[in-house]
Amino acid sequence: MRIVLLGAPGSGKGTQAQRLLARFGVPQISTGDLLRSAVGRGTPLGLRAKAAMDAGALVADQIVVGIIRERLGGADAATGYVLDGFPRNLAQAEALAAMLAAIGQPLDAVVLFNVDYAEIARRISGRRTCPNCGTIFNVHDHATPGITHCTKCAAAPALTQRPDDNEQTVTRRLAVYDEQTRPLIEHYRAQGLLRTVDAQGSVDEVTARLISVLTRKPAAARKPARQARPKRPRKAPAKAPVESKARRKSARKKARVERKAAPARKSAPRTTHKARSKGKRKVVRKKPVRKVVRKPARKPARKPVRKRARRR
Ligand code: AP5
Repeated sequence: MRIVLLGAPGSGKGTQAQRLLARFGVPQISTGDLLRSAVGRGTPLGLRAKAAMDAGALVADQIVVGIIRERLGGADAATGYVLDGFPRNLAQAEALAAMLAAIGQPLDAVVLFNVDYAEIARRISGRRTCPNCGTIFNVHDHATPGITHCTKCAAAPALTQRPDDNEQTVTRRLAVYDEQTRPLIEHYRAQGLLRTVDAQGSVDEVTARLISVLTRKPAAARKPARQARPKRPRKAPAKAPVESKARRKSARKKARVERKAAPARKSAPRTTHKARSKGKRKVVRKKPVRKVVRKPARKPARKPVRKRARRR
């Protein structure tokens, strides 16, 4: 698993990266943590980075790209990692792509954390970190309200607040995110790597959403959804006019009377079956039926009866 967590300061990237480490065993590589460590140790690199960090600006690309190159070469990063807070602008994204292309290990996904700015301000103001184990806490968390000491370390050291978690620096960090980091959203979306998580809600809820987004197949590998064919509008069956039985009977009777009263009509010319099948229309005229008028049989004329002269 080689992923990048992208999101505004305080959106929960560090907290969720620690959860992924516990769940999948992939190391969290946070440029913020590496830089803070360098500052804390007072190394030359740390001294160069400090001024930018205190001002809420980005540390020079050359420095952070160098740190990442070295860290990705570590044995624990061979099977994967979660990049938290890197890359933060297009130049860093391109440097990372070139680095990974050279070793043939491209990114699997870039996850964007969506949280509104009011919630971010609340989270940052309450953030506390263990200086020993690095666990992140929050004084506003319902499970640990007003927490002051680490509950993970046996010695329970006092938690510290980051120097850049003050109102002025946070405002500057958010502006830098909008100007320089936000363009990466479209950059990775265009590459088909971007996945978005609703990072509002409890830490557990966000973890569940994140795992679901990471374990589902990327859109390109999923079967294309079958497009539903547009349904043809069904023709409504023609409704036969409803006639009452009595009405039909009277109509038939009327037709019978009319037929009787009407003068005999000439029958229409008919087409024979044979002619119809050939496509020709043969007009067969019916012979007019002659009316045979039978003359009453004449009685044979009687022979005139001659009167015989009476014999005298
Ligand atoms: P960095 O340390 O990376 O800070 P950031 O990006 O500003 O992010 P944060 O660490 O502030 O927030 P996060 O998203 O990790 O939130 P977290 O999980 O802690 O960078 C610091 C500085 O270093 C930069 O300003 C810059 O100067 C320099 N730098 C770093 N990388 C650089 C780079 N690539 N290029 C140049 N410069 C670079 O959560 C915040 C709080 O909210 C915690 O208290 C947590 O408990 C709480 N919380 C988390 N999730 C939830 C939740 N779901 N509900 C309630 N509370 C929550």
